[in-house]
Amino acid sequence: MHLLRSSSLRLTTLTLFPFLARLPHVCAHGYVAKVTIDGTDYSGNVPNAEPTPSIVRQINNIAPVKNASNPYLNCGQDAQKAALVANANPGSQLQFLWLDGDGTHWPHDIGPIMTYMAPCVNTTCDQYDSTNAEWFKIEETSLEPGNNTWYQQNIMNGRPANVTLPSTLQSGQYLIRHEIIALHLATTMGGAEFYPSCTQVNVSGDQVGIASTNEEVTFPGGYSDNDPGIYDPTVFDTPVQYTFPGPPVAAFVSGSSGANSGSGSGSGSGTASTTSSTSSAAPTTLTSPSGATCALRQQSLAVHKRRSISGVMAAWIRSIGS
Ligand SMILES: *[C@@H]1O[C@H](CO)[C@@H](O)[C@H](O)[C@H]1NC(C)=O
Ligand SMILES: *[C@@H]1O[C@H](CO)[C@@H](O)[C@H](O)[C@H]1NC(C)=O
Ligand SMILES: *[C@@H]1O[C@H](CO)[C@@H](O)[C@H](O)[C@H]1NC(C)=O
Ligand SMILES: *[C@@H]1O[C@H](CO)[C@@H](O)[C@H](O)[C@H]1NC(C)=O
Ligand SMILES: *[C@@H]1O[C@H](CO)[C@@H](O)[C@H](O)[C@H]1NC(C)=O
Repeated sequence: MHLLRSSSLRLTTLTLFPFLARLPHVCAHGYVAKVTIDGTDYSGNVPNAEPTPSIVRQINNIAPVKNASNPYLNCGQDAQKAALVANANPGSQLQFLWLDGDGTHWPHDIGPIMTYMAPCVNTTCDQYDSTNAEWFKIEETSLEPGNNTWYQQNIMNGRPANVTLPSTLQSGQYLIRHEIIALHLATTMGGAEFYPSCTQVNVSGDQVGIASTNEEVTFPGGYSDNDPGIYDPTVFDTPVQYTFPGPPVAAFVSGSSGANSGSGSGSGSGTASTTSSTSSAAPTTLTSPSGATCALRQQSLAVHKRRSISGVMAAWIRSIGS
C-alpha cells in the first residue's frame, strides 16, 4: 500500500480535507457482539474483557486476521472455547451483530460475508478443539442485487447479518463459523482482512442433511492469499465481478429457504449499472502519531464524499490510498 510518507503531504491532505483530522488515529475493526437465534439473544464477549458465559468463542483482538495461512483463520484471533451451547433447529433464523471495538457500527463495507459449519466431533462444542474441524459452507453474500453495494454495507449501517440454517441439517453439535472479509486493501497481495467468528450450537430434529467430504475445508487451508476474491485487483471496478473463495455452498443446503439464497450467492458476480460507481471508495491510509498505520474509517469517508467531495478529489484520494 502507499502510505502518506511525508509530513508535508500529510499537511496538504489535512488542509484540503480538514475532516481527516477528526478521524480516529486508533485502528478500529470489530467482533461479533450478539447472536440471535430464532429471537433469543446471546451476547458475545468484548475482546479481552473478562468473559461471561457465552455461545460465541471470545477473541482477544478486534484487528483483522491477516494471511490465509494464519492459524487464527480458524475461529478468530486467539479464539477461546465458549462455555455455552445454544439450542437451534434446522431452518433456524440467525442474526450476527458485528460491532466495532468501541461499540459503534462495524467499520467496513467492501467484501463478502460467508458462513460455514463444522460438527463438534466426539464431544460437545464447549470442549471441542476446532483446529482440524472440517467446515462446509452454508451461505455466502457479496453484492446486493441490482447495484454495486455489498451486503456488508448493511452491517456498516448497523444491521445484523442474517443466516438461515439448512432446513435438512442433521442433528448434533456444530460450530458456526461466520466470517466477514474486508477487501478495501485487497488490491495488494496479503491485504485482505479476515474476521472469522465461531458460535456453538446444538441442532435438534431428525433431519439427516450433511455435506460431502469434497465440500469440506479446514481453516487455515480453505483459502490461499492469491485466490480470486481474496487478492482482488479489480475489487473497485464497476460493475463488480466477484468470485467467492472457499468451497461452494454445500449441495444439501440448496432447497433451504431464506437468506442463504440472497444477495450475490451462487454466481458471485454483480450485474449493476454504473450509477453507484462512487460506492466502492478505496480508503485512504494515514500515518498516526505513534507511527502505526491504519485505514481510515470508510464510513466517515463515505459520509464526507456524499456531502462534498468531487469525483476528481475522490480520485485523488484513491491515488494516495491503498
Ligand atoms: C471420534 O471417535 C472415533 C471413535 O472413537 C474415532 O475413530 C475418531 O477418530 C474420532 N474422531 C475425531 C475427530 O476425534
Ligand atoms: C442496493 O440494492 C439493495 C437491494 O435491492 C438495496 O437494499 C440498497 O438500498 C441498494 N443500495 C443502493 C446504494 O442503491
Ligand atoms: C436481518 O433481519 C432483521 C430482521 O428481519 C432485519 O431487521 C435486518 O435488517 C436484516 N439484516 C439485513 C442485513 O438485511
Ligand atoms: C503468509 O504467511 C506465510 C507463512 O508465514 C508466508 O510465507 C507468506 O509470504 C505470507 N503471505 C503473504 C501474502 O504475506
Ligand atoms: C441437544 O439437543 C438435544 C435434543 O435434540 C438434547 O437431547 C440434548 O440434551 C442437547 N444437548 C445439550 C448439550 O444441550
